[in-house]
Amino acid sequence: SRRLVLATKIHSASTMAAEEPNLKRKLAKLFEASLKATVPNVPDVEPLVAACTAKFGDYQCNNAMGLWAQIKGKETEFRGPPSIGQAIMRNLPQSEMLESCSVAGPGFVNVKLSNSWIAKSVQKMLIEGIDTWAPQLPIKRAVVDFSSPNIAKEMHVGHLRSTIIGDTLARMLEFSHVEVLRRNHVGDWGTQFGMLIEFLFETVPNWEDGKEIAIGDLQAFYKASRERFKNDPDFKERAQKAVVRLQGGEPNYHRAWVQICEISRKEFQRIYRRLGVHLEEKGESFYNPYIPEVLKELTGKNLIEDSEGARVIFMEGFNIPLMVVKSDGGYNYASTDLAALWYRLNEEKAEWIIYVTDVGQQQHFHMVFKAANRAGWLPDDDKSYPKASHVGFGLVLGEDGKRFRTRDTEVVPLVDLLDEAKSRSKAALIERGKNVEWTEEELVQTAEAVGYGAVKYADLKNNRTTNYTFSFDQMLNDKGNTAVYLLYAHARICSIIRKSGKDIEGLKNTGEIVLAHADERALGLHLLQFSEIVEEACTNLLPNVLCEYLYHLSECFTKFYSNCQVVGSAEETSRLLLCEATAIVMRKCFYLLGIVPVFKI
Ligand code: ARG
Repeated sequence: SRRLVLATKIHSASTMAAEEPNLKRKLAKLFEASLKATVPNVPDVEPLVAACTAKFGDYQCNNAMGLWAQIKGKETEFRGPPSIGQAIMRNLPQSEMLESCSVAGPGFVNVKLSNSWIAKSVQKMLIEGIDTWAPQLPIKRAVVDFSSPNIAKEMHVGHLRSTIIGDTLARMLEFSHVEVLRRNHVGDWGTQFGMLIEFLFETVPNWEDGKEIAIGDLQAFYKASRERFKNDPDFKERAQKAVVRLQGGEPNYHRAWVQICEISRKEFQRIYRRLGVHLEEKGESFYNPYIPEVLKELTGKNLIEDSEGARVIFMEGFNIPLMVVKSDGGYNYASTDLAALWYRLNEEKAEWIIYVTDVGQQQHFHMVFKAANRAGWLPDDDKSYPKASHVGFGLVLGEDGKRFRTRDTEVVPLVDLLDEAKSRSKAALIERGKNVEWTEEELVQTAEAVGYGAVKYADLKNNRTTNYTFSFDQMLNDKGNTAVYLLYAHARICSIIRKSGKDIEGLKNTGEIVLAHADERALGLHLLQFSEIVEEACTNLLPNVLCEYLYHLSECFTKFYSNCQVVGSAEETSRLLLCEATAIVMRKCFYLLGIVPVFKI
């Protein structure tokens, strides 16, 4: 009969509109109703609901104090914030979510969630899948502009950060049912191409013979051509003319450009493949044809003026203008970004455009956004859509506290860095005897998952605006807040379930979760907070919020597991289901962070 009850419930759930998965917002709706009844004369009071930090309850409503400031002195039945708090509590609608309610201190209204409701909600997720916990966002399509290295120049650790952070943001948005255009805005249209092409003609005369040009190391090629550019005035002049010929579309210049871009692209692709990151390239060159029209529109709106031969946009709040046409008549980074923004808003119809670069480019983006806002492309406030956001991040530092670089080279070759993460984690696995226990394939796959996962997690767990110190020793430590620790924790949970010998899929429908022990309840509640956390990480563009959640989840699990016997106990079924729910949520967190889970250790 239990099975029947659940089946009916699922049926009624699926015929309704998708249920709000965000716990905090669910509670806010209850408080909203209560506030309407409590202060009917104060319109549109936004409920202020937050998770409790103290032990008084699970969530609290903080409206009483602010409301008192608004209504005191006017004719009112209330004598102060506490009496408003009492009324808010009294007026809360009946709900199966709530166990109890109290008013504390100056008027905080604390609610405690019902154990059976928490248990039921977790079980519902087990049956219907974690996707029912995906946040509901008010937009349909977004652009995430990330990674975006420059052709022929090095892809450095800054681009690695952008790749890792941007991929996570894209994954979180995609999980929230937003269509994401993952854009690689590669620098493929700079003046450096004149120099590169001219140098190619000179040093590789048969450059069109083979399928691939024998440039070898493109970075060395770039350096050598720059040397030539600096030291030989004739070459310099030819290089400058080459830019004009390339941009004018002369066939062999265009073909050379295509070839050079192709070499870089292959290089970049090696990194993306390793990291499991998918991107779609629309480089700077793509937007070039749109620039004249866009600048015409901005000129028509009186935004652009002459300044010392250049064309610029002056804006309030900035000490320098945004240059959109150089004094030689050429376009630049800013004109390209204006055209790209126009394209993304008007052609691609994106409602949220997110740019992931180091904080050094913050002013550039803020000026571009401000110009778009003055042109009427973007609304005035940053709450409504369409919206443009710059996701800035800090530097990567070496363990000496200086900019990260290896031994003698200027920049760290990213492939080497990923290789080292992988080989170090492989060595650690061998040390634990896994080379005997596992096949070579399993060993390599786990070493990759752990090694690359460690690099990603070490980056993502920090608030992105701060600089972070790159340390293999720290990120590959199996204790503390590291991917290694978390991946092992997940594998351990999987092995508990495996070793129980129970059919966990079957139990999802036939068993029942009961949260009797305090540590069971704490784990259940934390699981339920997944949705609001992903939504927060997503809307505030802060992946570290999800990392904190994941780390805390594994702490909750450890506490539960050390105080509540699972296998062989009277509560085995319920507790195995809690293990399974934890593993599912952990895996979704890993997925959103771009980390491949491991199932055994
Ligand atoms: N290529 C630039 C760099 O390496 C990043 C481009 C970021 N995106 C953009 N739309 N400007 O710094």
